Amino acid sequence: MKSYGKTALIAGASEGIGAAFAKELAAAGMELVLVARGYDKLSSLATAITESYGVKTHILQCDLGESDAADAIMSFLEISSLKIDLLVYNAAVSPIEEFLMIDRSLIDKAVQVNIITQAKLIHSLGTLMAERGRGSVIIVSSMAGLQGSGGVSLYAATKAFGRVLAEGLWYEWRGKGVDVITCIAGATSTPNYIKSKPLKGSPLAPKPQMPEEVAKECLKRIGRTPSFICGRGNRIASFFMQRVLPRKMAVKIMGDNTARIYP
Ligand SMILES: NC(=O)c1ccc[n+]([C@@H]2O[C@H](COP(=O)([O-])OP(=O)(O)OC[C@H]3O[C@@H](n4cnc5c(N)ncnc54)[C@H](OP(=O)(O)O)[C@@H]3O)[C@@H](O)[C@H]2O)c1
Repeated sequence: MKSYGKTALIAGASEGIGAAFAKELAAAGMELVLVARGYDKLSSLATAITESYGVKTHILQCDLGESDAADAIMSFLEISSLKIDLLVYNAAVSPIEEFLMIDRSLIDKAVQVNIITQAKLIHSLGTLMAERGRGSVIIVSSMAGLQGSGGVSLYAATKAFGRVLAEGLWYEWRGKGVDVITCIAGATSTPNYIKSKPLKGSPLAPKPQMPEEVAKECLKRIGRTPSFICGRGNRIASFFMQRVLPRKMAVKIMGDNTARIYP
């Protein structure tokens, strides 16, 4: 991590996979900028990290669903004289409902958080990283985004955007010293996942990973590949779904499994 520089920003940092990334990066000695909406969780995470790892932390309360979120983050960084060397874009709006059941206002929010703010922040920070000739961007995506996923269609479509963007940037930025990776997570025991009260899926479905496993695995692979799937079970499942089965069957299996988990 040190070769990227000294400061990391995590968008969606206060719990789950984002908090796990924060702890791993602090353990590697990085100063952190932690971004989320809820101040109390951010503040207690920042205190715990400083106590455990002795690194500086900065917190920014910001709703990534607001249209000016990326600009607000860039202004905060400028005022605080902070240069970001590594970005983790982790937050997502994840409506677990069939498309027609979703409140239309959630479409704007999901597209804003999962696509627009993500792309704008990566554009702004990526420009500065490329100028310095070093840096790194991690986009957290999902197995749901590898094909159409009935029951979470809107979420899955936005997650496909993250993966495809990161892969393209991996190519464009190879000569600029900026590494990009998509971390494709499967079910992960985060507070939001637990809150969604998932039932048991197909007996063949891999068991949920812990957020720490996802973060550790990703940080080991950054710089080596444009995208990877977290967890051996997820990689095996994805091999069959993406390479062996016809696309139509993969889409059906994904929809059927989501319907079992969230009837
Ligand atoms: N958990 C899973 O099973 C799973 C599976 C596959 C992929 N993923 C991906 O992993 C990532 C993390 O998922 P997660 O389960 O940990 O839950 P999440 O709700 O996507 O992320 C939680 C973090 O993001 C922050 N956040 C959420 N919405 C925000 C907003 N509008 N503005 C600013 N911060 C926001 C939350 O804090 P505040 O609420 O305080 O803002 C919290 O710190 C997502 O990209 C998700 O798609 C998760």
